[in-house]
Amino acid sequence: MSIKNFKIGIQDWLDERSGLSNVIKFLREKKIPQHKHSIWYYTGSAILLFFTIQVITGFVLVFYYNPTLEEANKSVGRIMTEVPFGWIIRSVHSWSASFMIAFVFIHLLSIWITKSYRKPREATWMSGVFLLVFTLAFGFTGYLLPWDDLSLAATKVGTDIPRSIPVVGIWGTKFLRGGEDITGDTLTRFFGFHVSILPVLLIILLAVHIYLIQKHGMSLPLAAERKKEKFVELPFWPNFVYREMVVWLFLVGILFSVAVFLPPSLEKAADLMAPAPEGIKPEWYFLFLFQTLKIFPSTILFISGDTIAVLLILLGVILFFFLPLIDNKPAKRKGKIITVIAYAFIVYAIVMTAWSLM
Ligand code: HEM
Repeated sequence: MSIKNFKIGIQDWLDERSGLSNVIKFLREKKIPQHKHSIWYYTGSAILLFFTIQVITGFVLVFYYNPTLEEANKSVGRIMTEVPFGWIIRSVHSWSASFMIAFVFIHLLSIWITKSYRKPREATWMSGVFLLVFTLAFGFTGYLLPWDDLSLAATKVGTDIPRSIPVVGIWGTKFLRGGEDITGDTLTRFFGFHVSILPVLLIILLAVHIYLIQKHGMSLPLAAERKKEKFVELPFWPNFVYREMVVWLFLVGILFSVAVFLPPSLEKAADLMAPAPEGIKPEWYFLFLFQTLKIFPSTILFISGDTIAVLLILLGVILFFFLPLIDNKPAKRKGKIITVIAYAFIVYAIVMTAWSLM
């Protein structure tokens, strides 16, 4: 039997049991429209790239990281000084987290402005909002794991925020901390969230997200869709994937350059008894929310300013989740107002972040 026949035999055997050729046929027939907004189609797979890097570097770090009060900070120190390539793996993991979150923001803002959540993609958007929350939760739980003064103080501030929510707030803070105060239990709990609960939740929602994207294909710009404009279409496989790979190479190049030249520092081990260091700030992606909370007065009409601020932020997240249903006439006046709100939100987030940094 010739090698060619042997290969065909293997392929047929595999296909009969997996239906792989149907998947390849689907990917070959899937088309990506080329228009002025096509650039945003690269943002989703960029997030997938950084998530994959997080999983791979995370698998390595988990072999050497020790989630206990006594050993957490020391084990990160050992990763940076004793484990072969440990410092670069930790640096890539730390920077790729920021890159992933930055691309989630770019992805959702581009979809908000191009209204790519309109019918039939409402559920894609809603699954996306869950992905946003899980991605930010990854950042928040990961930040505590080096267990140094900065991460402890920022986690104290962060886990204290739910406390100002009426009825469930105190329970929320206790649930996050694993008790009244931050202790070793908090570290174990955050480690559990970071390496088991959140990965499972994110992968489930990602599967839903990707399934819905394959089902509906890529959206067209609103105006073009209404004029039934025709666009040049690119086969997803191999043409569009090759282009995505060029983008991935570029992004990996930037990530490694930043990770090599700007590796994250490691402060001394956190001291639960010590007062919080001055000027504590959360990671960059929470700064606009942090500054928003700070500008609220301590009380408004006998209600704590924090409570009002947190309830307004929660209301904002709920409205954001149902945005596709609220913006159900995207071409009408309401739709235009919602686009203006999107731009206003971008300006607000940038101004609040800059203000917080100053
Ligand atoms: C872990 C985070 C996420 C990953 C890995 C992801 C991945 C993807 C991918 C690969 C696509 C197809 C290509 C593209 O348009 O870029 C896509 C499309 C989409 N995503 Fe996401 N996404 C994430 C988060 C979000 C978020 C936070 C939202 C909204 C709040 C969202 C809403 C959508 C919508 C509505 C589409 C369809 C766009 C269209 O058809 O033009 N995604 N996503």
